[in-house]
Amino acid sequence: MGTMTQALETQIGSVTLKNPLIAGSAEHLISPEGLRLALRAGVGAVISKSVNETEAGRDQLQRAEYALFDDQWRQIPWDKNAPAGAFVGCRSGLNPQSFEEWLAHLVALDGEAKELGSYVVASLILADLSQTIALAKRIEAAGLRILELNIGTPYASVAKKGVVSTELDPQRVSDIVTAVRAAIDLPLWVKITGQSERVPDLAQAAFDAGADSVVMAGRSLGLIPDVETMQPVLGTTLGVGGFWNLPLTCQWLALTRSKLGPSHALIGTNGAQSGLDIARMMLAGASAVEMSSPVMYRGFELLSESLREFEAYLVRKQINARDLIGRAADERKTFAQMPLVTDNWKNYVPEEVRNDGRRT
Ligand SMILES: Cc1cc2nc3c(=O)[nH]c(=O)nc-3n(C[C@H](O)[C@H](O)[C@H](O)COP(=O)(O)O)c2cc1C
Repeated sequence: MGTMTQALETQIGSVTLKNPLIAGSAEHLISPEGLRLALRAGVGAVISKSVNETEAGRDQLQRAEYALFDDQWRQIPWDKNAPAGAFVGCRSGLNPQSFEEWLAHLVALDGEAKELGSYVVASLILADLSQTIALAKRIEAAGLRILELNIGTPYASVAKKGVVSTELDPQRVSDIVTAVRAAIDLPLWVKITGQSERVPDLAQAAFDAGADSVVMAGRSLGLIPDVETMQPVLGTTLGVGGFWNLPLTCQWLALTRSKLGPSHALIGTNGAQSGLDIARMMLAGASAVEMSSPVMYRGFELLSESLREFEAYLVRKQINARDLIGRAADERKTFAQMPLVTDNWKNYVPEEVRNDGRRT
């Protein structure tokens, strides 16, 4: 292990992050003060709340609603002391500021980020491709240093048509990323959906078209019925994700790594809420990890606490962050490679049926 500073560093294409924790995009990063608090918490980068050209995207934010659920699917108070099993269901929208105002804030905050050795990453959500390209060029011209392009929001099928995208076809991903890549030189991180069995194909399409990193995988649509009112909680299908999604995120990271090889930097999102979760996603193949919804209800301290926990883990394991990447993924075996454990299943069923499988 080198110094702690070196031990924490990670590489996303041409960009070196001082550590792998990224404050991921959500409502707490709408205000400049939110971006500043995330930067001060020490993160390697912070992703702004996303914009696009549509009025409907802003309108959607004004119809947004959020709920925290416990492990019994009950709505619980939005509170920093929520249990570890809490997760957010919501319908969200886009940044309410005008593009100009948003861009000006980001440029100012990225100046502050530079002094902290960090980055403020601009974030666009795809609606119309030619408009996305026009906005991407303005982001580059304004001097921002990284662009994240979200083409995998959960909401395309339930939002107004043309407001946000859930791209499921590798050819579409290729066309979109090729067009944006041709328009700008900025490092381009492409955030894709997890609601597909083709996440590694979508990632490959993005990299082949010139993405510098792929962020995986976006939240899903889910329905949570309320047994008392017999209505959907919050009235609609919701975007859902959270701690229970971590194994799925890790599986997508591992599969993508084995498909594309270790030279493609992946970024994990969906389910990280501690320093050890940063390690888990890295062991599965992530070079960096975004943390979003838990920060909304636990506060910006969650970011600094997670960094502290992650650093302590590296010290305890005597390992550099970059040496975690993909370790568990690369050790995955097939079921057939596992040793024979005859009748082991009997230890895992109620006693009354333990002998039911006896050969006669
Ligand atoms: C309320 C809310 C708003 C979000 N807004 C955005 C957004 O504007 N742009 C974006 O790319 N992702 C957005 N996301 C997705 C998060 O950045 C993140 O990918 C997702 O919540 C899963 O990670 P988490 O478990 O850390 O929350 C939003 C998520 C939530 C819960």
